[in-house]
Amino acid sequence: MYPSLCTLSLWLALAFAQNSSIFDFPEYPPPGTPASNATLASSVTTLPANEVNNADLSRAKIHVDTGRFGPTIELVHAYFNFWPTGVGVSSDGRIFTCFPRGNETFTLAELNSSTSETPFPNEDFNTPEAFVNETNPTFGIATPKLIFVQSVVVDGLDRVWALDTGRPRVNGTILFATVPGGPKLVGFDLNGTPFANITFPGSVVFADSSLNDVRFDLRGGGLAYITDSSPQHPGIVVVNLTTGASWRHLDGHPAVSVDPTFVPSYNGVPFFVHPIPAPNAITHLNTFAADGIALSADGEFLYVSPITSRQLWRVPTSVLKVQPSPANPNAIILANQAVQNLGQKGSNSDGLETDSNGFIYLGSPEQNAISRFNPSTGMVEPFIRDPAIQWPDTLSVVSLRSGGNFLYFTSNQLWLGPDYQNGTDLRTKPYAMFRVPIEGGKAIQTD
Ligand SMILES: *[C@@H]1O[C@H](CO)[C@@H](O)[C@H](O)[C@H]1NC(C)=O
Ligand SMILES: *[C@@H]1O[C@H](CO)[C@@H](O)[C@H](O)[C@H]1NC(C)=O
Ligand SMILES: *[C@@H]1O[C@H](CO)[C@@H](O)[C@H](O)[C@H]1NC(C)=O
Ligand SMILES: *[C@@H]1O[C@H](CO)[C@@H](O)[C@H](O)[C@H]1NC(C)=O
Ligand SMILES: *[C@@H]1O[C@H](CO)[C@@H](O)[C@H](O)[C@H]1NC(C)=O
Ligand SMILES: *[C@@H]1O[C@H](CO)[C@@H](O)[C@H](O)[C@H]1NC(C)=O
Ligand SMILES: *[C@@H]1O[C@H](CO)[C@@H](O)[C@H](O)[C@H]1NC(C)=O
Ligand SMILES: *[C@@H]1O[C@H](CO)[C@@H](O)[C@H](O)[C@H]1NC(C)=O
Ligand SMILES: *[C@@H]1O[C@H](CO)[C@@H](O)[C@H](O)[C@H]1NC(C)=O
Repeated sequence: MYPSLCTLSLWLALAFAQNSSIFDFPEYPPPGTPASNATLASSVTTLPANEVNNADLSRAKIHVDTGRFGPTIELVHAYFNFWPTGVGVSSDGRIFTCFPRGNETFTLAELNSSTSETPFPNEDFNTPEAFVNETNPTFGIATPKLIFVQSVVVDGLDRVWALDTGRPRVNGTILFATVPGGPKLVGFDLNGTPFANITFPGSVVFADSSLNDVRFDLRGGGLAYITDSSPQHPGIVVVNLTTGASWRHLDGHPAVSVDPTFVPSYNGVPFFVHPIPAPNAITHLNTFAADGIALSADGEFLYVSPITSRQLWRVPTSVLKVQPSPANPNAIILANQAVQNLGQKGSNSDGLETDSNGFIYLGSPEQNAISRFNPSTGMVEPFIRDPAIQWPDTLSVVSLRSGGNFLYFTSNQLWLGPDYQNGTDLRTKPYAMFRVPIEGGKAIQTD
């Protein structure tokens, strides 16, 4: 056997030498290439257009971006009805979602099949007495019912929280301004019974505030941290869940503010803000501020990233917990001074999320991807990428009682909506919800 193998090798070497040309690179992948499940979207392929006219070029395997890496994403839900933002999943696998309200008939929902949603806790709770304030038509109303739910979160005790911005938008109009009692944080048990109903004074949530996303630390009775993504009033709202008291921090700090130089690109297309004609002149992407928010697994840091910036920031929760008051006159300046800029992360982000291993997952719409910040290395690592990820909006980690840890996320084509495309709706239904397996579980802070 040995001599004949040897002969074969020699023949191969000669044949190879005869065919030697600039195209004789080693086969792909070369030795040392990471496994195909690793975080590289690289491959090689021939280009069909060359097949007819040039035999040599038709054999040239060109390096390409496959658009994919990491664990495979699984489609869990197709939205044929309303446009979704939030997702929250309970440990028994129930999935909650929300729809910023235009003239939709409900704003908080539970998935009741892979292609349909039903109002949660019921239709009545989703039906305010009115949207338009009769005495002041550009304002909303005060109501315990849900007006415009921007975020739904399942907490560490398997309870469902709805964050209501209180700013309805009806038939393509502007976002109405809030009145106190409109914006609220409502907590429901899984059976749909409300157990908490927290509203905000006008000095904490302003008429032009835009409450966007929320995270909970349930220790000692509990605190909630909320982003105010209003371009006029970006900041963080902190809520004591026991007393219902709330206060603001980081008002106007760069950590929560728009980067006016920001020009992202989506699906490879540079994205500039167009002047938006009425009736869609609600606001535009470059004016949205603090958006995604995540609490570190140990509850010690709040991570935040403006939707219109590639910077990631964090602030110790110890300074946010201090309510500014005559007894704590330096609370604001001390909180501002404690903010840490973690630098750029390769994309803007809409949603952020934590797992029990300490990763901070970062939606990365500029790469059709989700990355993750590793606090132990200080670096952003690639996690998943797929051309089907068309604006990862909200991210939500769950540890299912039936087994498995997953990151769920909505993919809602946000930048293709009429608000961002000069009044034309370039989105296509269905919008999507995906999930992907992760190593870590849900990070919870409970007593
Ligand atoms: C050399 O080229 C010929 C003709 O294109 C092909 O049949 C043969 O397989 C090639 N040999 C090697 C080692 O690539
Ligand atoms: C890739 O797959 C190999 C073998 O199944 C496994 O050991 C490795 O952890 C995987 N790597 C990633 C990044 O998933
Ligand atoms: C889901 O809920 C909607 C709205 O309540 C209802 O019309 C629909 O029949 C339900 N679908 C299923 C499969 O239960
Ligand atoms: C309408 O808005 C005004 C403030 O402009 C507020 O005082 C009033 O309570 C609102 N009415 C309702 C029904 O919420
Ligand atoms: C929205 O449009 C519908 C249909 O044209 C109309 O019936 C409804 O009154 C409008 N709502 C508001 C608040 O303008
Ligand atoms: C809902 O609002 C849109 C504009 O945003 C309008 O085209 C549509 O007719 C409205 N539908 C209803 C049922 O009012
Ligand atoms: C929420 O608060 C309003 C008053 O602001 C009250 O009318 C309503 O009953 C409360 N609902 C719950 C579930 O506590
Ligand atoms: C909420 O406020 C009460 C009263 O001041 C205080 O005892 C409690 O510790 C606060 N909760 C948290 C989580 O800080
Ligand atoms: C936006 O649309 C308006 C008409 O609705 C048009 O006049 C204008 O040129 C468009 N702007 C851009 C940047 O496409």
